[in-house]
Amino acid sequence: MEQYIIKGGAPLKGEVTISGAKNAALGILAAAVMSDDDVLIENLPDVKDINVMLEAISEIGARVDRIDRHTVRINGRTISDISVDDEFIRRIRASYYFIGALLGKYRHARVPLPGGCNIGSRPIDQHIKGFKALGAEVRIESGSVIADAEQLRAAHIYFDVVSVGATINVMMAAVMAEGQTIIENAAKEPHIVDVANFLNSMGANIKGAGTDTIRVKGVEKLHGSEYAIIPDQIEAGTFMCMAAATRGDVVIKNVIPKHLEAITAKLLEMGNEVEEYDEAVRVIGAARQRHTDIKTLPYPGFPTDMQPQMAVALSLAEGTSMVTESIFENRFKYVDELSRMGGNIKVEGNVAVVDGIEHFSGASVSSPDLRAGAALVIAALAAEGYSTVEEIGYIQRGYENFDEKIAALGGQIRLVDSEQEAKKFRLRVVG
Ligand code: EPZ
Repeated sequence: MEQYIIKGGAPLKGEVTISGAKNAALGILAAAVMSDDDVLIENLPDVKDINVMLEAISEIGARVDRIDRHTVRINGRTISDISVDDEFIRRIRASYYFIGALLGKYRHARVPLPGGCNIGSRPIDQHIKGFKALGAEVRIESGSVIADAEQLRAAHIYFDVVSVGATINVMMAAVMAEGQTIIENAAKEPHIVDVANFLNSMGANIKGAGTDTIRVKGVEKLHGSEYAIIPDQIEAGTFMCMAAATRGDVVIKNVIPKHLEAITAKLLEMGNEVEEYDEAVRVIGAARQRHTDIKTLPYPGFPTDMQPQMAVALSLAEGTSMVTESIFENRFKYVDELSRMGGNIKVEGNVAVVDGIEHFSGASVSSPDLRAGAALVIAALAAEGYSTVEEIGYIQRGYENFDEKIAALGGQIRLVDSEQEAKKFRLRVVG
């Protein structure tokens, strides 16, 4: 089974270039099938979830030409099957975006209920509420969501919960509905804005994305487009935490600093230096982190997808920090693994009390989910001694060339798939 083997202690130094945003790309790929013309998408992150999505898009009959790792041309004209039933697609949460895209284009969709990381129950009731408000009949039958509509008409939808997925999904379903749909209490994440900009580049008429009220004026059809995906805010934040935790000095390139404001603010509170440039940030890690408190909130609040990584950096702080996870109910699964490395975190409900320690010690740990896995890698890079991180398939779902990017910064990390290879790494990196 593939795993990372890491020898900790080296401060990361140098430059890393951030890939395209996974969570924007997943919505954009689904939206791309809504046109019958060629859609060229650039700056695609080459990660597992994206490749599963592309496979599903070709399985329903669309044409998919992978120009290179980061560029794909899609044409939805030849779609013949509006039921996406594929064993791979069940594994990723973003499969639900096919409902909004196919319902919005063909007035019909049949998609398996979503899988995804085990960070919480992850219902889709708000998605369904939006589809029904637009005039669709929606039912769950043998593990799939089936949505049908004679026609889709404008609606005034108020989300009970701020939901990234529901906002993107209902926005897609509404782009060719009759009249003006208003979505209230919408999510405001950068990837919502990216999907809205992409749909507008195809001829949709969406206003207000990035605010809590989005207006969608229905159009007849969507035409082709050429579009480049925004940089990944969470990959960038992950490398910012890595620089802080290893007392490194890293320039993180191809970012939009505004998207990183909540992360930058916290790293500054913790005593790190953060310099902002037009399309880059530089993080110089403090000799010792200062404690602070974190509460995850919908954007522009502190992102839940950065909670595990920040908890690792706070574990190295002087003093005690409180980390409150207000989005998902089960996003502290990394705490047990971290305790094997000397972490000292107590979880009470949706609050983790993080008591600072001098340093982590290397250990064998296993990734419970995507961002927790990245957090454990950060801890291993900061630890004294060797660590192995297993179940790295989770990490590869959302991070492109993770080990190569870290190694290029001087991190002593190797992807190995046998004990023998792990031994060789230990011998090579003696001491
Ligand atoms: C997206 O998940 C991201 N995934 C998640 O990133 C991210 O953590 C999350 O947004 C929050 O930012 C993708 O974009 C593929 P939500 P999503 O709907 O859309 C509740 C990663 O690490 N809710 O914003 O599923 C839900 O239970 C992944 O890249 C309902 O109650 O998240 C949660 O408590 C992990 N009913 C809260 O809303 C619904 O119908 C936020 O969920 C939908 C959601």
